[in-house]
Amino acid sequence: MNTDGLAGRRVVVSAGPTFEDLDPVRFLGNRSSGKMGFAIAAAAAARGARTTLVAGPVALGTPEGVERVDVRSAAQMHSAVMAALPADIFIGAAAVADFTPATVAAEKIKKRPGEDGLVLQLVRTADILADVAGSEARPALVVGFAAETGDVEANARAKLEGKRLDLVCANRVGVEGSGFESDDNALLVLGHGLRVELGPASKTDLAVALLDIVAQRLPAR
Ligand code: C5P
Repeated sequence: MNTDGLAGRRVVVSAGPTFEDLDPVRFLGNRSSGKMGFAIAAAAAARGARTTLVAGPVALGTPEGVERVDVRSAAQMHSAVMAALPADIFIGAAAVADFTPATVAAEKIKKRPGEDGLVLQLVRTADILADVAGSEARPALVVGFAAETGDVEANARAKLEGKRLDLVCANRVGVEGSGFESDDNALLVLGHGLRVELGPASKTDLAVALLDIVAQRLPAR
């Protein structure tokens, strides 16, 4: 096990969901708990990495030795991640909204008599992971997550190539004992010439195993 390669390295991790406001009281969110990303940040800091955790709205304490930046929306997460660069490693474990309301209503949206539906207009958010991987300050290793409900491996490979990542960690969501709200997970880690199955195991143990792979693939200083 390589426990030294991360010491002194700059690691940025994103975690949790994003909330996209519709009006002053409502938002579009998702079921990410943030546990996987927080476990990765905790494990990185424990190995001596200088770790920044950009966290969406979650109910989790800050891991020891981690610098935490709290955000709410995908746009805020994008700014906070970019501001945290340069780094040696970026691990995008957040479940970032793909779409956000085109406008945020200043007042609470009311139901009007006679209206039996509401059409929301959404626009695409910026892809944080792809922007980090394509940035001038590209970290040596860019790691993404792929939460999939089907065709896990093919979809994850497409993400690896499409977003120009070094590693992608795929997991099946919507099944018991893995994914969003669980303490446990199972990951299929894909890279260029790499295919490793990790778990099922606790997210804490998976974070350690994932960072072993990351440390091995980090270019020498
Ligand atoms: O394309 P998809 O959203 O399934 O990819 C998931 C990966 O991309 C995750 O690592 C997630 O953090 C990242 N992502 C991102 N910004 C977005 C959407 C996804 O960084 N707007």
